[in-house]
Order: sequence, then structure tokens, then C-alpha cells
Amino acid sequence: MSQYWSAVVHGLTPYVPGEQPKLANLVKLNTNECPYGPSPRVLDALRAEAADTLRLYPDPNSDRLRAGIAAYHGVNADQVFVGNGSDEVLAHAFMALLKHDAPILFPDISYSFYPVYCGLYEIAYRQVPLTDAFEIRVDDYLTLNGGVIFPNPNAPTGRLLALSEIERLLAGNPDSVVVIDEAYIDFGGESAVGLVARYPQLLVTRTLSKSHALAGLRVGYAIGQPHLIEALNRVKDSFNSYPLDRFAQAGALASLQDHGYFEALCARVVATRTRLVAAMSDMGFEVLPSTANFIFARHPAHDGAELAAGLRERSIIVRHFKQPARIAPFLRITIGTDAQCDALIAALKTLVAC
Ligand SMILES: Cc1ncc(COP(=O)(O)O)c(C=O)c1O
Repeated sequence: MSQYWSAVVHGLTPYVPGEQPKLANLVKLNTNECPYGPSPRVLDALRAEAADTLRLYPDPNSDRLRAGIAAYHGVNADQVFVGNGSDEVLAHAFMALLKHDAPILFPDISYSFYPVYCGLYEIAYRQVPLTDAFEIRVDDYLTLNGGVIFPNPNAPTGRLLALSEIERLLAGNPDSVVVIDEAYIDFGGESAVGLVARYPQLLVTRTLSKSHALAGLRVGYAIGQPHLIEALNRVKDSFNSYPLDRFAQAGALASLQDHGYFEALCARVVATRTRLVAAMSDMGFEVLPSTANFIFARHPAHDGAELAAGLRERSIIVRHFKQPARIAPFLRITIGTDAQCDALIAALKTLVAC
């Protein structure tokens, strides 16, 4: 607290990111990063950018990258917005498209940054309970609202909402923006990008942090019809005209162009997920069906916080949320390499045997 703070800062409850420990030799399964490095073509592109041209500002509109993203998704470049991680894209979407009189709607168990943006931008919101099976029920969102946002698959549950259900939501909610946050869609879900042409209120956000193994580069983007993209650009150019530096623009483009590497990366993560789910189910864990690069699991006989603490003593870090209470028994575990998951399985076996 300080007398020099503005009133809004006094009222903020900032997002708390997953721990980035400084210790080496940890099995780090807490922030949904990719356990494998990015495409070698990305590294080549970054090296090429380390040049005299760094004295010049980057392209404020990221035109080459946006053209690459447009080609990748089969849309036009004026339907693409890029930002410094999808967190920044989401922040601009809250300000540009979700700030209205009626409250926006998102699930009670969801990405914990959403209420933080609402606090920052003073946006009214209502959290809609997931079902007992931790699913999104579309009918709950077919009511007056200032906008709707959720991740698909949802985080931290990993559960996917079928595309037909998203379409039902769009058809029944024509008057406010629907943001589908596809941070984890590449690990088994079907993207809503194909619906953008038919639904003027749909914005889909994506990130290169997870499935492209580029969390350190900070690149995210949104796809929507040009009138939505224009709103995002108006906010961006009232905030920071150069959100993506030269490295981010070049590296992201190179990654999107290396399809083979990307597909192999996702397939490896999915194969390890299948193996981990089987091993944990054998130990008695209830694992929610996941189409993400993480799983959400609880053990009927063991407390989530205690399991997380026991893993930490064994140098394995996973994510545990104390709130809301009904997810306190769960652990959110990022899919690591096979070797990391073997270490996790061995540690969990000793912990659940206690
Ligand atoms: C659901 C969801 N959306 C968005 C993000 C933000 O990703 P980034 O800012 O790295 O693109 C995350 C990060 O963990 C996430 O879990």
C-alpha cells in the first residue's frame, strides 16, 4: 500500500503465475510448458535476427507473421491480431470487446486470469458453475450477458466442449462477443476457427507457448472477423504499438511454417499423456478426460495439497489450487517427457502407498 497508488491499484488482486523455480534438476510439471524444445528452424530464424537491424523498431503490425498465421488457418490477414503472449491478446479483448453494462460470463473453474482482467478494467462478471462432472453446460450461457469467454479445452480441468456445442452457444447468443481461448486446442480438440466466417461475434485466441514450445518467446494471436480485429488494434495502438519484437515475429513465423515438427511434438505429448493417465488410473486416481497438455486428477484417499507437498520433497513440482474448494483435492500435472512422467509415477506410487 502506498499513498502514491491510484485507486484502481489499491483494489487489484493480481494473477499469480505458476512458480518458475531457480533450482536445477527439478521435474517441472507446473506451468504447462512443452517438455521439448522448439523447431530448429525457429532457432535459425532467431539467430538471423541477431543483427544490426535491432537498432530499428520492429514492424508494428507484424505483417509477415500475420500473413503466415492467416495462411496457416486459411483466413485473411485482416482477420488476425497478434500480441505479446495470448495473455496480452486476452487483456485487449476484455477491454475492447467485453466491457459492457451486462456482466460477462465465464465458468467458475477456469483460467484465473479472467477475473483479474475484470478487476483491472472494471468489468462486471458472473462465474457460471461447471457441472458436477466439471463440464461447461451451454444452456447456462444462453442468457443476457455482456460477453462470454472460456478456454476450450478448459483449464485447469482439461475437458473439451464439442464444436457443435460451441456453435449452439453462438447461434443462441448473437448479440455479444464469445471468446474461445484455444491455448490447449492442439493436443486433441477441434478448433473453432472454422466458425469465424459464419459468426461475426466469435473471437478465437491461440498461443505458441504450449504446442509450439515457445513460452519464452511470448506470442499469441486472435482470429475473428475484421470488425473485431479492428477493436483489438484500437486498444493495442492506445497501449503499445510494438508488442512483438523482431525475434518474436521471426521465430513465431518459422515455427508455424514447420508443420512436421509441430505435429510430431503434439503427438509425443499426447502419447505420454495416454501412458500417464493409464498409470495414474491404475493407482486409483480419478483423472478427468483431457485434451490438453496437462491432466487434472484426484485420489479418493489422499489430499491434493499433501500430494503436491510430497512431490515437491521429491523435487517434482505440479500445480495445486486451494480455491475454489471443490478443486482443492486435484492436482494439475503438465505432461512432461516420458522420463519425467516415469519419475512422477514412481513418486506418486510411494505417496499413495503411505
Ligand atoms: C487458458 C489459458 N489461456 C491463456 C494462457 C496464456 O498463455 P500465453 O500468454 O503464454 O500465450 C494460458 C497460460 O497458461 C492459459 O492457461
